[in-house]
Amino acid sequence: MPTPTREIHLVARPSGLPADGDFRTVEVDLPDPAPGEVLVRNTVLSVDPYMRGRMNDVKSYVPPYRLDAPLDGGAVGVVVASEDPALQVGDTVLHGAGWREHAVQPAKAVRKVDTDLAPASAYLGVLGMAGVTAYVGLTRIAEVREGDTVFVSGAAGAVGSVAGQLARKLGAAKVIGSAGSPEKVAWLTDELGFDAAFDYHDGSPAKLLAPHGPVDVFFDNVGGDHLEGAIFHMADHGRVAACGAIAGYNATAPVPGPRNLAMLVSKRLTLRGFIVTEHHDATDEYFRVAGPWVANGDIRHRETFVDGLDHTLEAFRALFSGDNIGKMLVRL
Ligand SMILES: NC(=O)c1ccc[n+]([C@@H]2O[C@H](COP(=O)([O-])OP(=O)(O)OC[C@H]3O[C@@H](n4cnc5c(N)ncnc54)[C@H](OP(=O)(O)O)[C@@H]3O)[C@@H](O)[C@H]2O)c1
Repeated sequence: MPTPTREIHLVARPSGLPADGDFRTVEVDLPDPAPGEVLVRNTVLSVDPYMRGRMNDVKSYVPPYRLDAPLDGGAVGVVVASEDPALQVGDTVLHGAGWREHAVQPAKAVRKVDTDLAPASAYLGVLGMAGVTAYVGLTRIAEVREGDTVFVSGAAGAVGSVAGQLARKLGAAKVIGSAGSPEKVAWLTDELGFDAAFDYHDGSPAKLLAPHGPVDVFFDNVGGDHLEGAIFHMADHGRVAACGAIAGYNATAPVPGPRNLAMLVSKRLTLRGFIVTEHHDATDEYFRVAGPWVANGDIRHRETFVDGLDHTLEAFRALFSGDNIGKMLVRL
């Protein structure tokens, strides 16, 4: 018997911040799993800034979402029917068929997760892509070293909050963060051990970062004025891990670049972008290195939950107004 279920389709390419009319919730009958497949009831969905880029019809490192088809993205759920001996009914799994209540997936496309180690939702954040991204950016891109001063933009988000704490564990002497509210700033300094943090609504990052430089490593999640501000305060031979540029994701025209790029030359800076999914071996390494720090509380994390499939778009849009502290998730 097919399972009736709901999924969210993209029906129009958004211009600017995605609008309700760009999406439709569709009821479908899921087929029973075929041999080698499992049926998963999703319990938590991830919404991520990179999904905004996939809503555009442009060639990038991941293909655009198709119109009139379900969106996808990270999800965790429980196996409710299995036609593969590797997975049992009741197993909790991580997979890529989010934005929907149920998914039929090949067993090899889902990964069983250990819920004794951490709640399932953590595998979408601190023990998932966000954590690995922070690790790759610091260790393989910016190559953080003992004694470095590290600045993290978007520091109270999923990636940024891990990046700041990891930087310290990897030897940074001083960690500075920027975020979008006093509550977030207090979380960074009072609970996560950042040495300093500022709310970028209080002035330009160039001005607010000035008392804390020079910066050896900049882990940039925001771009725009944050990148320009950081370049002003980078130390000679500083390294920038360009992780994201969320300030421009909803822009309807090309965003102007930093006006001080000539400082890349005068300060002999390295600015290097990266995509976490290219670093296939990094997940195991991250679990080995940072898993114990997450388990013993040296690396702390927070999750912001929005409830119900009908609120998935709201949760996604809230990434751009900064309503999340830590990882933004949708609980079904
Ligand atoms: N390179 C990779 O492989 C990779 C992988 C994962 C994520 N990323 C990137 O990493 C960044 C963070 O992703 P995440 O999943 O951890 O999301 P997140 O930081 O948990 O959520 C997004 C945050 O961005 C901030 N923000 C939104 N608009 C802003 C603006 N105009 N100016 C300044 N801050 C703004 C908001 O916080 P405030 O309240 O502080 O404004 C919001 O909470 C994104 O740029 C994402 O694209 C890259």
